[in-house]
Amino acid sequence: MSEQLNKLIRQTTELPSMPEVAFEVMRVADMADSSAITVAATLSRDPSLSVRILRLANSAFYGMTREVTSISDAVVVLGMRTVKSLSLVAASFPWLHKALDGKGISPVLLWNHSLTTAYLVRAMATRKQMPDAELPFCIGLLHDIGTVVFAVWKENAFDSLVRRAEAEERPLDEIERAVYGFDHAEVGAELCDVWNLPRVYGSAIRYHHQPSLPETSDPIADLIHVADFMVRERGINEGAFGQIYQLDQEAFERVGLTMDELNEMLDMAISQGADLQSIERKAA
Ligand SMILES: [Fe+2]
Ligand SMILES: [Fe+2]
Repeated sequence: MSEQLNKLIRQTTELPSMPEVAFEVMRVADMADSSAITVAATLSRDPSLSVRILRLANSAFYGMTREVTSISDAVVVLGMRTVKSLSLVAASFPWLHKALDGKGISPVLLWNHSLTTAYLVRAMATRKQMPDAELPFCIGLLHDIGTVVFAVWKENAFDSLVRRAEAEERPLDEIERAVYGFDHAEVGAELCDVWNLPRVYGSAIRYHHQPSLPETSDPIADLIHVADFMVRERGINEGAFGQIYQLDQEAFERVGLTMDELNEMLDMAISQGADLQSIERKAA
């Protein structure tokens, strides 16, 4: 299956490309011996990505008291982990905002859904005192990236999947598996492998709809599953459709946060997502 998916991903020529530099920044920022200078030098190789990072860094969201004028400044002021997430945000925008109207998903909705989920996942990881909340943020941002591949590659067939999910009141991922033998979560995981992202990306994305399926559950997949559910409950869907979303109770219990806590974090995530969304759209 993996080989078949891999082939399909590579053969789908209409897919946007991910800037190599963004991946390089993510790798470099994770290396123990890298400094702000190395990260800045890597980022500077892609001027358009650098400009977007600077715009994000100077947005009201980060509340800087002075203007961040250079990439090395941004790395020092914001920290390597934040710059790493910002480069992924800037890099994935063309993907998650791809015009797919008429193919079942709406770019504006998918981008909003992905960003809001990412912020909620980060808030949950911080509350749970996980060592690196930026990692779940990045994975949360990409959790539905497989949907884009599905929509491009299956073109009009994707609409009929969506309609069938609605008519039968079944989750979309279940219909995808019934029709194709795999779902967008698996496609997304495969894509992360094609991009050589750390393994944890693919493994968490693969199970975001079925977090209790693997023998050993993955705490990041659990967080994403619960965040995805909460965000959709507020009507922030991946597209203009409302299939049901089955919350995995065991995953919910493993996460161990109350509905009140989650709703409070979600309010914050919605406003953070809206801020960043408008900055990115202006920059695009
Ligand atoms: Fe999903
Ligand atoms: Fe989702």
